[in-house]
Formats: sequence, structure tokens, C-alpha cells
Amino acid sequence: MHKVLDHLRYGGDYNPDQWPESVWQEDMELMQESGVNLVSLAIFSWARIERRPGEYDFAWLDTIMDMLHAHGVGVDLATATASPPPWLAHQHPDSLPVTRDGTRLWYGSRQQYCPTSPDYRQGAAAITRLLAERYREHPALEMWHINNEYACHVAECYCDRCAAAFRAWLQRRYGDDIATLNETWGTAFWSQRYSEWDEVIPPRSAPTFANPTQQLDWKRFCSDTILELFEQERDILKEVTPDKPVTTNFMGFFKPLDYWKWAAAEDIVSHDMYPDPSDATAHIQASATYDLMRSLGHGAPWMLMEQVTSQVQWRPRNIIKGPGQMRLWSYQAVARGANAVMFFQWRASRSGAEKFHGALVPHGGKETRTWREVVELGQELKKLKEITAAQVKAEVAILFDWESWWALEIECKPSAEVRQLEVAFDYYAPLFAANIAIDFVRPGDALDGYKVVIAPVLYQVHDGLAEQLDAFVANGGRLVMSFFSGIADERDHIYLGGYPAPFRKLLGLRVEEFAPYAEGQVNGVYSDEEDQFGTRTWSDVIALEGAEPIAHFMSDYYANNPAITRNSHGSGTSYYVGTRLDGAGMGWLLERVCREAGVGAPLSAPFGVEVVQRRDDSHSYTFLLNHNLEEVTIDLPRPAHDLISGEDHRSRITLGARGVAIIRM
Ligand code: GLA
Ligand code: ZN
Repeated sequence: MHKVLDHLRYGGDYNPDQWPESVWQEDMELMQESGVNLVSLAIFSWARIERRPGEYDFAWLDTIMDMLHAHGVGVDLATATASPPPWLAHQHPDSLPVTRDGTRLWYGSRQQYCPTSPDYRQGAAAITRLLAERYREHPALEMWHINNEYACHVAECYCDRCAAAFRAWLQRRYGDDIATLNETWGTAFWSQRYSEWDEVIPPRSAPTFANPTQQLDWKRFCSDTILELFEQERDILKEVTPDKPVTTNFMGFFKPLDYWKWAAAEDIVSHDMYPDPSDATAHIQASATYDLMRSLGHGAPWMLMEQVTSQVQWRPRNIIKGPGQMRLWSYQAVARGANAVMFFQWRASRSGAEKFHGALVPHGGKETRTWREVVELGQELKKLKEITAAQVKAEVAILFDWESWWALEIECKPSAEVRQLEVAFDYYAPLFAANIAIDFVRPGDALDGYKVVIAPVLYQVHDGLAEQLDAFVANGGRLVMSFFSGIADERDHIYLGGYPAPFRKLLGLRVEEFAPYAEGQVNGVYSDEEDQFGTRTWSDVIALEGAEPIAHFMSDYYANNPAITRNSHGSGTSYYVGTRLDGAGMGWLLERVCREAGVGAPLSAPFGVEVVQRRDDSHSYTFLLNHNLEEVTIDLPRPAHDLISGEDHRSRITLGARGVAIIRM
């Protein structure tokens, strides 16, 4: 574990350059009062630091770094490259990004750079190096915050320079022989054959569907190219300050960037999360992203880098977190492995597009509910140092792959309603409700320690995955695979020989036809345990080849055909789910699989109480998070000590509305 996370960190984005110096001293006092011990500094400060090309002013930042250190606040120092100053684009208009239809995006907002612009890259490298050299020995410097939310607004640029970079990327991937590209992209179709490399372009606006493999390679290229920007800065920082960990803040299941690749390139995973308080499933979706962050770092502590204290400003209607909700949702992240609870931003802005975005210090200052809750949480987190080495251990893994996600959601599939995150969430939500810990795993990574592996619409699989899953099941594991998995290879070419060809043997079946539903159409299944559940979106027409059905479709031409199957294989079992079951159906199925696998919750709790365990060699810390607006009572298997309240409980514990306890047993 990195030293920066050996105690719980609390703080947020600090933008003192938006304020007169007269405010800075008050900032320091308020940070101390609230227990803030880490701030992310200078994220949007490029224009302030480099006022004119090559003219740098660090004096203000020197002062702030010294003041923070004097007040016991560490710094997660940004490289200030998230948004170049207007002069960069004014001098170099071709540093601005271009959309798919050829529109150039202007400055006056943020993130207006083309990822292959040499002027952007040189400017970013220069300021990164100057910051690193200037603050390398500064005692406040704890870690580096590279850029900010890469690709959040501009995930791709279709300019001519990016087109050339795309060709170079393709040549590195496929070699110089254009014949390989033609074969891989399947350009025999629609007269798309390329005769020389110069003809190859990004999938720009076109009369109709662009070649799917071209689109898929474009997504790979865009993720890799933006990653180069990160790596350029990281390499400079590692050269100057090899001991300081680096991060860049992720955005959960963010489609444009393959975070498996990205996370491998950084020291600490960090994450920005803004659950919508008006969405009753917001905390479940947030929880899935927290599990993803932990998984991206292979279980290591991660940072909740940004959330909001009260409400954001960027939704059409910005619902405020109710009393206790910020605290509850912060502990949700800690429960799932975060060792930092940070916010955007420290002090609410007076001007600019984010002036109505919540902050630790609201416009109303200390006389606000937000401030009181901020101080309370900051003081509480100080008591929790002992949990920071404890980790979440999951026995259930969901296979999740960015490339497959991209390939799945390129148009022209049997149903556009099959969305990666929705189907993954079908599986995640009932496990969350049952308080079963879940990791996400990149297909191909080791599966040791997992008892159940789930593959929700894993449309695209690489050669070799079938053998690995085969061995996992043969050795006693349980695999649950959904419809439309194992369909295409990495080139987005179909695996022939009956769907899903790579997994037919392991599943003991073949899918003869896909029967997607019309809008609003539903069907249902009846199970071998005499339950009935609704289905939506899709039915597979399944022919059994050894598997036994555990549920059958109720209607349509395939009525009474198998819908869900089970196949013994070696000492394990593989399940196949040939449809989208409703919530009750998913609960039934996953409860059955987990029971068989001997996987369960750390303790049983009333509905709406989230239970998550972090463990180290000697202790387990069980987080009890009451998402209900009513009080609940939870029976304890043994006497326990609540780290937050400091109380001991013999056999039960009562939690108020949105209450939290962390019990050591
Ligand atoms: C993102 C950005 C921040 C800020 C917040 C507002 O997370 O990183 O700079 O704009 O959104 O919610
Ligand atoms: Zn470009």
C-alpha cells in the first residue's frame, strides 16, 4: 500500500487561483476544522501558471504549497494539463479537436485539445516537468494527479493528423501489408477494399454504417492515444520524483477508455462518482463502480477522488443529498476499499459554469447543513486508521471487457436494446441486494479464489478464453453465461459452427436462433422449481447437447423450449441464461447458484441494509450501511465493537435512518 493511503484521506479539489489571497488563510483554518488532510491542487491552473507562452509564474503556488504544509494538509498536485490556455489554440488552431462530422471545437470551455497535437503535447510536457522539478522536495507533495478525467468531453478527434496516427497505429498492430488490414476489417463487403494505406481514415461521418471492425479499431486507437498523453506525463514525473505515486481520476464504467489498460499504467486508482439522489438505484450503480475501481487495482486501496457534498449543477434538475446521505454514500466507498473520501470542490465558486456545484465550503460558509456534515464526517474518519490495510475479498467475479463492450454496442446487432451495462447490472443488482461481494475481472486474468464467474453479454472473446473457463468449471467453479456471449472474435468476425461456438461444449448446448423482442414485448419463463418470471429484450432458441433445462419459455413459437440451462462439467457447473430475466428471476437464479457454490453474505440484515466486509490478517471490519429512511435492527452473530460510535454491542445493533456502523468482530 502506498504511504499516502495508510490513513484515510479527506479533502477535495482546491482551486485557490479562483480566489483573492485574502481568502487563503481562512481556507487553511477551515481545512483544519473539518479534518481535511489532502487536496488536489492546480488541476485547472495552466492559464494561471503559464500566462503567456513560456512565461511561468509559480509564486502563488509556492505560497499555497507552503501554507498547506504549515496546516498539515498534504497535496495531490495536478500537472495542470487538463485544459490548455486560450493562447495555445489561438497560436495553433490545429491543436483543437475535430468531431466526426468535421466540426472544430473551440476554447472558452475546457479540454479543448487534440490528443496528437504536438503543440499540446510539448506544452503539457513542459509544465509537467517544471512542476515536478520545482516541487520535488516540497514536504507537502504526496502524489501526482495527472490531467483530469481524460476524455470526459473529448474522447476522439477526427483531424487529419489523428487520421495519420490511426494509420500508424494500424500498421503497428497488423503490419505494413494492407492485405492483412483488408482481411481483418472484412473489406470484401460493400466494395470497401483499400489499395494503399493513404486511403485509410477514421470512421468519419459516412452515408450509412461504417465498417464495424474499423469502428472497433478506432475505439482501441482513441483509448491508446489518450493513454499516451498520460504516459508522457507519468514518465516525466517518474524521472524526477520516482517515489511519488501517480494517478488520474477515472469515471466508473466510462466507455471510451479501456481502464484495464489505463489502471496498469498508474500507481493508485482514483475515481469520480456523482450518483443521482433522485434515482432509487443510484447507490447500487455507485457500488458497482466502487467494486470496479477496487478490481482495477487488483484489490489495492483506491481513492474516491471526487463526489459532491450536496448537489451538482450539470443535470437538468440537481437533486440535493438529504441529511446523512453524503456521509452514508462516502462510507459506501470506504466499505468497498477506498482509503480516501474526496470532493469536487473545496470552496464553491462565485463565477463560472460550476458556481452552483456543491462544495465542502458552500456559498453560505459555516452556517450551513453541508458544512456541519463535512466537519462531522472529517472528524469521524480520523478514528478509522486501523481499517486501511483491510481489503474486500470477493468470491464472485463478473467478467468485464471494454473491447467487448465496444464491439457489442456498434450498430447492426440483432437488438440495439442489448446494452452492456444494463445486462451487467441485471446480475450485479441481486448480488448487491444479497450483500455478496463482487469483483470485476478482465477476461483472461486469473480466476483463482473465485467460486462463481459471471459473463454478461460477453459478445467478443479472444481465443483461449474458452479453455480457461473450461478449466475453471472443470476444477469445481460455477460459470453463469448470458445470451449473446462468445459470438465474435477480436476482429469482430463471427465464430462459426453454431452459437456460441467456443462455449458449446462447456455449456452443453447450441443456440439456433436469436429472437429479440419488439419494443414493449415481453415473455416469461417457468422454472423447474415452479416459479414464473418475466423476460424482456431477447430469447435464444436453444438446442440441448447435454445440458439440462432449469427454466422454459412460456410463449411464442419456442414456448416450452429451454430458457436457462445447467451443465455439469468436471467437478463444476456451467449455467446458460438465454434471455433477460426480471429482477425476481435474477434473484432466484443467482441465489441458487450462490447457494450451490457456498457463497453468502457476511451476516444477514434487513432489506436495504448494505453489508460489506474488509478484512486483514487479524480482523474483519463489517460495514453496516442503512439505506432506509427508517431505523433498523441487525442481529449480530457475536459481540462486536463499533469503530464509529465506540460502543460495544452484544447481540444486536440498531441503526437510525441512513445510519452507519463499522463493527469489528
Ligand atoms: C468532474 C470534473 C470536475 C468538476 C466535476 C463537477 O468530475 O473532474 O472538474 O467539473 O465534474 O461535477
Ligand atoms: Zn486530432
